[in-house]
Amino acid sequence: MTQWHAYRAIESEDGVQSSWQLVDNSSLPTVGNGKGEGEVLIKVQFSSVNYKDALSASGNKGVTRNFPHTPGIDAAGTIIEDASGQFNTGDEVVVFGYDLGMNTCGGYGEYIRVPAAWVLVKPEELSLEDSMRWGTAGYTAALSVEKLLKADVKPDAGKIIVTGATGGVGSVAVALLAKLGFTVVAVTGKTEASEWLLGIGAAEVLNRAELLPMAAKPMTRPLYQAGIDTCGGDMIAAVLPQLQYGGALTTCGMVAGAGFSASVFPFILRGVDLLGIDSVEVPQTHKQLLIKKVATDWQLSNLADFTTTIGRGELPGVLGNVLAGKGQGRYLLDLSKA
Ligand SMILES: NC(=O)c1ccc[n+]([C@@H]2O[C@H](COP(=O)([O-])OP(=O)(O)OC[C@H]3O[C@@H](n4cnc5c(N)ncnc54)[C@H](OP(=O)(O)O)[C@@H]3O)[C@@H](O)[C@H]2O)c1
Repeated sequence: MTQWHAYRAIESEDGVQSSWQLVDNSSLPTVGNGKGEGEVLIKVQFSSVNYKDALSASGNKGVTRNFPHTPGIDAAGTIIEDASGQFNTGDEVVVFGYDLGMNTCGGYGEYIRVPAAWVLVKPEELSLEDSMRWGTAGYTAALSVEKLLKADVKPDAGKIIVTGATGGVGSVAVALLAKLGFTVVAVTGKTEASEWLLGIGAAEVLNRAELLPMAAKPMTRPLYQAGIDTCGGDMIAAVLPQLQYGGALTTCGMVAGAGFSASVFPFILRGVDLLGIDSVEVPQTHKQLLIKKVATDWQLSNLADFTTTIGRGELPGVLGNVLAGKGQGRYLLDLSKA
C-alpha cells in the first residue's frame, strides 16, 4: 500500500474541487490519541453515494470543515491491522456514520483508519456489496421504518406516504415498507419516474407539486396513517395536516429546507407525532442489530435492481446529480473499477 486511489476534496482560492488522486499513508489519521483514533486499518472495497457525500465533496463546511479531505460516509472492506485486538486480519467489516467521510477520511479512498468503536462485523448473510447498496441512506430508511413500527403503524391501518421517493433514503423506504405489507404512496418531483416507483413497490405515485399546497393548510382530510419524510421544509408541513388520528411522521433530511412552519392542530387535535431520525451517532450495538435485520428479516430481493454500480470515473457525475436532486435509487461505488 505505497500509494492508492482516493477522491480528494482540495480547497484553493477558487473554492473546493474534488478529483481522484494517488495518495499514501500520510493522508490517513495517525494512530493513538487515547480515543481510538486510527486504530483499525481497513482496505475499502465498496462505498456508496449519499446526499451528505455530495455536500462534503463540493466543500460544504457544515459537513466538512477541513480540507484536503476524502469524502465517503460509507465503507465496506477487510481488516488489515487492528491495534484494539477486537478484529482479525481479513475480517469483513462495515463502517457508516460517526465522523467517517465528514472530518475523518472516508470510503472514497481505498484505505481508511478508524476507531474500533465505529466498526461493524458484516453479518454472513450480507455481502459487502449489499451492505453498501443499503449504505447510510438505506440504513436511515430502516431506522425510520423501525421507529414507525414502534409507533404502532400496521399494514391494515392505512397508507404510508414517503417523500423524496426516488432518492436514496426514499427508494429504500418505499421498497422496505412494501416488503412489510404496507400500502405506499410515493411522492416525487420526477414525473417521469412513476413507473420506476411502482416497480420498486409503490402502490400510488403523487407529484410533489400536488402535495406542496397542503403545507398552507392547518388540517385537512386524514389520508395517511403515517409518513417517512426525507426532504424537510414544506414537505413536512404538507404531510402533517393529512395524517390520521394518532399518526406519525419521521424526519431525517433537509434537501427542501431546514425549517418549516406548521399548525399545531395535527398535534393537539389528532395526537400526531413527529419522530426524529439520526443514523450517524446511533450506538454501535444498535447499528450492528440493524445490519443483521436488513440482512435477514428485512432483506430486499430487489435492492440490486434499483442500485446502479459505478466505478471511480463515474463518481463525480453521480455526486453532481445527487446534489442537484436528480439522483435515482442507490449508487454502489466499486473502488476497484476505474
Ligand atoms: N438524519 C440522518 O441520519 C440522515 C441519513 C441519511 C440522509 N439524511 C438526509 O436525508 C436527505 C435525503 O438523503 P438521500 O441520500 O436520500 O438524498 P437523495 O438521494 O439526493 O434524495 C433526495 C430526494 O429528495 C427529493 N428532492 C430533492 N430536492 C428537493 C426539493 N427541493 N424539494 C423536495 N424534494 C426534493 C428528490 O426526490 P424526488 O425527485 O423523487 O422528489 C431527491 O432525489 C438529505 O437531506 C440527507 O442529508 C439524513
